[in-house]
Amino acid sequence: MYAISLGDDGAELRPLEPWYAEEFLAHLERGRDFINQYIPFGAKATDVDSAREVLQRYADMRAADTGSLHGIWLDGKLVGGVLFLNFDAENANAEVGCWLEPAGTGRGLVTRAMRVLIDFAVEQRRIHRVEWIASAGNTPSLDVARRLGMTREGVRRESYPYRGVRHDLEVWSILAPEWREARTRAAHNDR
Ligand SMILES: CC(C)(COP(=O)(O)OP(=O)(O)OC[C@H]1O[C@@H](n2cnc3c(N)ncnc32)[C@H](O)[C@@H]1OP(=O)(O)O)[C@@H](O)C(=O)NCCC(=O)NCCS
Repeated sequence: MYAISLGDDGAELRPLEPWYAEEFLAHLERGRDFINQYIPFGAKATDVDSAREVLQRYADMRAADTGSLHGIWLDGKLVGGVLFLNFDAENANAEVGCWLEPAGTGRGLVTRAMRVLIDFAVEQRRIHRVEWIASAGNTPSLDVARRLGMTREGVRRESYPYRGVRHDLEVWSILAPEWREARTRAAHNDR
């Protein structure tokens, strides 16, 4: 299948399609406790059939142009991914999200994959606003938003009930001109 290289460490971004159900389930089993600390991503995938259903739901969103799921492979092993939770081409708004199993953390995999996703959204699909929403306690996630150059807009106080706690949700975003400016700055710094 086609893949986008994320650097010289063998990391790749590929569409995470329903036929990956077995691999997706094995990955979730390795990372479930970590992944589900703040979000229920993949929680409904408890066997191969339900894993396929989760992936099919995103495949359907992709077909409808309302969202999509992309896996990150490191040395041929699925270790996480990035996604468009919402994709609203008509209003040029998108919401992105991410997850990793512990073995994939600390390498910039999500930051690198997210750059590919946002570039695609902004440059190819003319998305104007890319949004990032995370629990206020989810420091690694907020760090990714900051690293991507997003702006912290505010807090939806105690808006997200999860595992018996009402979490504050932080809303971050980046607008298309800000993204282009950040990319130009990064390219100059690389010279
Ligand atoms: C959120 C989550 C994906 C962040 O993982 P992460 O590994 O910190 O994020 P990245 O892949 O972008 O890697 C960044 C880390 O790699 C380091 N790094 C190494 N090489 C890097 C590079 N080329 N570019 C950027 N960062 C790099 C960074 O310094 C950072 O480490 P630090 O936080 O110790 O400074 C992870 O904590 C997770 O999956 N959590 C559970 C699911 C979840 O909560 N998802 C988000 C819901 S809102």
